[in-house]
Amino acid sequence: MRHAAPAARQLQHTCQQFRTICSSSVSASGWFGNVEQAPKDPILGVTEAYLADDNPEKINLGVGAYRDDLSKPVVLNVVRAAEEKVMGKLFMEYLPIGGLKSFTEKSVKLAYGDSAQCIQDARVAAVQSLSGTGSCRLFAEFMHRYMPGAAVYIPKPTWANHHNIFRDAQVEQKGFRYYKPDTRGLDFEGLMDDLQAADEGSVVLLHACAHNPTGVDPTPEQWQQLSKLMLKKHLYPFFDMAYQGFASGDCDRDGQAIRIFLDDGHNLGCSQSYAKNMGLYGQRIGCLSLVCADKAEASAVESQIKAIARAMYSNPPVHGALLVDNILGTPEIKQQWYDEVKGMAERIIDMRTLLQQNLEKSGSSLPWKHVTEQIGMFCFSGISPEQVDLLAKEHSIYMTRNGRISMAGVTSRNVDRLAAALHKVTS
Ligand SMILES: Cc1ncc(COP(=O)(O)O)c(C=O)c1O
Repeated sequence: MRHAAPAARQLQHTCQQFRTICSSSVSASGWFGNVEQAPKDPILGVTEAYLADDNPEKINLGVGAYRDDLSKPVVLNVVRAAEEKVMGKLFMEYLPIGGLKSFTEKSVKLAYGDSAQCIQDARVAAVQSLSGTGSCRLFAEFMHRYMPGAAVYIPKPTWANHHNIFRDAQVEQKGFRYYKPDTRGLDFEGLMDDLQAADEGSVVLLHACAHNPTGVDPTPEQWQQLSKLMLKKHLYPFFDMAYQGFASGDCDRDGQAIRIFLDDGHNLGCSQSYAKNMGLYGQRIGCLSLVCADKAEASAVESQIKAIARAMYSNPPVHGALLVDNILGTPEIKQQWYDEVKGMAERIIDMRTLLQQNLEKSGSSLPWKHVTEQIGMFCFSGISPEQVDLLAKEHSIYMTRNGRISMAGVTSRNVDRLAAALHKVTS
C-alpha cells in the first residue's frame, strides 16, 4: 500500500498530460483535425469519371458487376421467384451469430461437392458472412488470433482489397509470382518456385476460379502439382471463390481446384460470395468455411469465428440468406439457377470472342489471343496506364489503370467501338 501513493500520482500526472494534449488539439482544429483524406478507391474512381462524361457513347469497363447485352443490371429470375416465396413471411428477428444454418450447410455442399468426405465427417466449420469481403475479413482476423506469426502469400497481382483486408487484420503479407506479362498468362514456374521457397506454416491465398484481375487460372494438372507442393511444404490453402459458376458456366467445374486439394487431404479454408453468381451484390451474402481435422476441432473453430463476428457486427443479415437457401434448397429452382449462371458466363465468353475477332479485323498486329484464353469477368488486356488514360480522354472508355477490362461491360453494340479504340491507342 505504501507504493500506492506515488503510483496514483503518476497516473494523475499521465491523465493530466492526456487532457492537455486533447484540449489543445480540440481547440486548435476540433477532434478530427488531424484526419487526412483517404485515397480514392481505384474502382469507384473509374465510375465517377464515367458518370461525369456526357458522351452518349461512353463505356464503363471498370466495375465488376454483370450487365446484360443492353448494359443493364440483371436480377436473376430465380432470385425473383425466391423473393416471392419469402415475401411477407419473414420475421425481422436476429439470425444467430453464425447465420442461417440451412444456408451454410447448402453453401458448403456447393463449394466442396454434395458427397465431400469432410461434410460427411461433420468437420467443416462454417458461418454466414457479409459476402466475399466479409468472409476474407473474418478469416484474416481468425488467422491473426490463431495462426500467430504466420504470413499470407498473395498472388501478384490480386484483387486490390485483399491487401487492405490482411493489413487491417495485422497479418503479414508476402507475394508469389502469378502472372507473366510476356504471355499474358500464368507464370506457373514462378509460382511454384516462390511457393517452394515460402516459409512453412504460411497461408496461401488462391482464387478458386476466374482470377481477379488477370482472368488467368491454372489448369487441373497445374492445380494438382500445386496441391502436392503445398502439402509437402505445410502451406495452408485459403480459397477465395467469388465467381463459382461464372468462369466456365458450370459450378462443379469451377469448384474443381478445391476438390483436387480436398482429395489430396488438405484441410483448407474457403470464402464464398453470392454477389456475382446470383447477382446478390447488395445483399452481402456469403459463407466462410474451414475444413478441420475432426468434429471437435470444427466446433471449436466455428465458435471462435462466431466470437469474432459477434464483436464486429453481431449477426449477419437475413434476407439474402433466405433467398440463397431457397434457391439451393429447391431442386428445380437450383437447376434454373445453374442455367442462368451458365447464360451469364456464356455471354461473357461470347463477348471475348467478338472482341478478339474485332481486334483482329481492325488490323491490329498485336497478339490478342489472351482475350479468349483468359476466363471469368475480367480480361487483363496488357495495355499501359497511359493507354488507359488515352482511352478515357479520347474515346470515353473507362477502366482501371492496370488495363483490366470488365467483360460484363462489353456488349454486341459497343464491342466494335471498343476494339477500334484499343487498336488506336496501342498502335
Ligand atoms: C477475388 C474477389 N474476392 C472477393 C470479392 C468480394 O466481393 P463481395 O464482397 O462483393 O462478395 C471480389 C469482388 O470483386 C473478388 O473479385
